[in-house]
Amino acid sequence: MGLGDAPRETWATRAGFIFAAVGSAVGLGNIWRFPFQVGQEGGAAFLLIYLLFIILIGFPAMLVEFVVGRNTERNPVGALKAVGGGAWRYVGWIFIATGFVILSYYSVVAGWTIRYTILGLQDGYLADVGEAEAQFVDLASGLDAIVLHAVFMVTVIVIVAYGIQRGIELAVKVLVPAIIVITVGMAIYAFTLEGASEAYAYYLSPEWGVIAAEWTSILPAAAGQAFFTLSLGMGVMITYASYLGEDRNLAEDGAIVIGFDTAIAFITGLIVFPILFTAGVDPADPGAGAIFVSLAAAFGDLTLGWLIGFIFFGTVAIAALSSAISLMEVVVSYVVDERGIERRTAAFGIGGALFLLGIPSATDLVLLDLFDLFADQILLVLGGLLLMILVGWLVADLAVDELSRGIGDLGSLGTAWIWAVRIPVIVVLIVALALGVLEYVEFLTGPFAEWLAAL
Ligand code: PHE
Repeated sequence: MGLGDAPRETWATRAGFIFAAVGSAVGLGNIWRFPFQVGQEGGAAFLLIYLLFIILIGFPAMLVEFVVGRNTERNPVGALKAVGGGAWRYVGWIFIATGFVILSYYSVVAGWTIRYTILGLQDGYLADVGEAEAQFVDLASGLDAIVLHAVFMVTVIVIVAYGIQRGIELAVKVLVPAIIVITVGMAIYAFTLEGASEAYAYYLSPEWGVIAAEWTSILPAAAGQAFFTLSLGMGVMITYASYLGEDRNLAEDGAIVIGFDTAIAFITGLIVFPILFTAGVDPADPGAGAIFVSLAAAFGDLTLGWLIGFIFFGTVAIAALSSAISLMEVVVSYVVDERGIERRTAAFGIGGALFLLGIPSATDLVLLDLFDLFADQILLVLGGLLLMILVGWLVADLAVDELSRGIGDLGSLGTAWIWAVRIPVIVVLIVALALGVLEYVEFLTGPFAEWLAAL
């Protein structure tokens, strides 16, 4: 028992690592959240700001996680203990807690996507938005939701229990190409729809006035989305890079991962908006119901909508699975590395606990929000911020040195990277944290207080 008894696994191939990272990044954040945010926050102008943040904030932050993981070859807690010493391991614990909380409800939402995939086969999409909403409320909480949450959790457990090469790597090499091929295929289908040109105009024409008027909400929204969609701030990329085992060009790997994630998000917009416009469903309707209500209603209206819906929700379920695997691996790697527990035991034990923790989210939408907002708006940002402070300000030399392995002399690029982490990344995270806390307080004193009072 203990550290270092068994040799730590590594990815079998470079593609394995890249697919795993892409699989983690591409998830509900791309397919559900991104297109609606673009539409709502000013179309193409938001898109430009988002792309700017991906490059300015997301890319440097991803490299931070990569170098910490590869340098230490440890789970997030062990990695932060090794890099920062002593009390920094508590930041690692924030990562573990974040992964734990996010996965508990992510699995519930993934269960909905399975339910909606099956609905296609049962020809069950309702064209009326009001009826679609009633159906969603009915399916989102209760026994159905709990059972499918369990089904999804078991799938994640089994994959993670098989380990890095035979579990995660094998799964993502099937899942990620499937996501890419189906997404592109659906975009081509959407192009043929009658509402396509109107939809492209809505999605892609910049409204600069909106940016000027609402930049205070657009900037943090774009920054938060950039961070969430790349799976940053909770140690996923630390954990995945800890299994590298060889010195490769991390900047190149990071650029590939970011390129795929951004492309999938963008293409999803090219699918969702033509479908909504063709079915005459209002696209400016965000929230948890966005894909399960408005989009489902559009499937209810389209010719062969059941088939399109089946394929679409099936793809969302696959994308959620490859993200959930990474969340689980963060927690499992900690228990395996630091507690010397066998991987299979760890996966089943943690999965069981996650199932229990997710039950409240599967019984009431308000409770799902309670977990979601806390993890997304506070834990994720806080953990990310502390990591950036450690690497950007306290161990910058070590980080630059580690990045140069597999690349060669970085020249002034190393300095540019560290200063990107030191100022823009950290400032953006501080602002996002402040706004996140305010939003959470508003939720606790508003909807949550009302929910408690109604008990
Ligand atoms: N990046 C995933 C998405 O876009 C979400 C995620 C966040 C996954 C953090 C793992 C860790 O849906």
